[in-house]
Amino acid sequence: MFGGPAAVYDRFVGRYSPHLARAMCDAASVRPGQRALDVGCGSGALVAELATRLGPECVAGIDPSESFAEAARLRVPGARILVGAAELLPFGDGEFDATLSQLVVNFLSDPEGGVREMARVTRPRGVVAGCVWDYGGEMTMLRTYWDAAGALDPGGTAELRETHTMRFATPETLADLWRSAGLGEVQVEPLVVEATYEHFDDLWSPFPTGVGPAGAYAASLDPEAQRELRDEFARRLGNPEGSFTLSARAWCAVGLSQ
Ligand SMILES: C[S@@+](CC[C@H](N)C(=O)[O-])C[C@H]1O[C@@H](n2cnc3c(N)ncnc32)[C@H](O)[C@@H]1O
Repeated sequence: MFGGPAAVYDRFVGRYSPHLARAMCDAASVRPGQRALDVGCGSGALVAELATRLGPECVAGIDPSESFAEAARLRVPGARILVGAAELLPFGDGEFDATLSQLVVNFLSDPEGGVREMARVTRPRGVVAGCVWDYGGEMTMLRTYWDAAGALDPGGTAELRETHTMRFATPETLADLWRSAGLGEVQVEPLVVEATYEHFDDLWSPFPTGVGPAGAYAASLDPEAQRELRDEFARRLGNPEGSFTLSARAWCAVGLSQ
């Protein structure tokens, strides 16, 4: 799902990532002098923001996708980028002052184990922060896309939507995950970001490549059904002509390692 070229991801949900990274670093109170880790770093948007604030030598990132890890290395020379999984982090206890994870916990095979590992590698009273999209609510792009797909194929999409497949998409479920990993003083806050598109096909073009769950569904359709989905998606966004902007809300959990 995320094994393809990083450039495609960056035109898809990754378009929101640099904005979200700034909001995440603010929510986690990242400040100079700290060492920070980005778990599930993807193509490196959050690594880049952390490096701007802390210096690349104080930043590490890890992702199981070779192509994403390589993209992150190229994006942030000097940061330590490894290939690996959240559930088994190759770092020592308490190595970081802050461990962050952006849009990742829903993709972990063992989310509880992954967040426990994030807590383990963070020093006592260091910050562990993670965010997920508000899939059923104010993540406009994905919600509108699935509404369009559901209108055209009522029986075929209900079980594919992130609202069905993603365990963590509300403040309550995310806070519970953070607490279950032993994190203290857990708080969840909304992060609202935007992405601007030059025209509708600037938004649509990554979908049929199969990136992420939404793209995987688009890629499974024949060309005629893809065209219908494209047109219904555009219609629900008001058939934009020229440039337009969509907003997206994520929920961000912040807790302290014990
Ligand atoms: C939606 S992308 C988010 C990427 C990046 N954090 C961002 O905000 O742009 C989800 C990421 O989780 C990564 N991922 C999937 N399984 C993982 C695991 N077990 N441990 C760590 N990361 C994982 C994927 O490779 C992908 O880069």
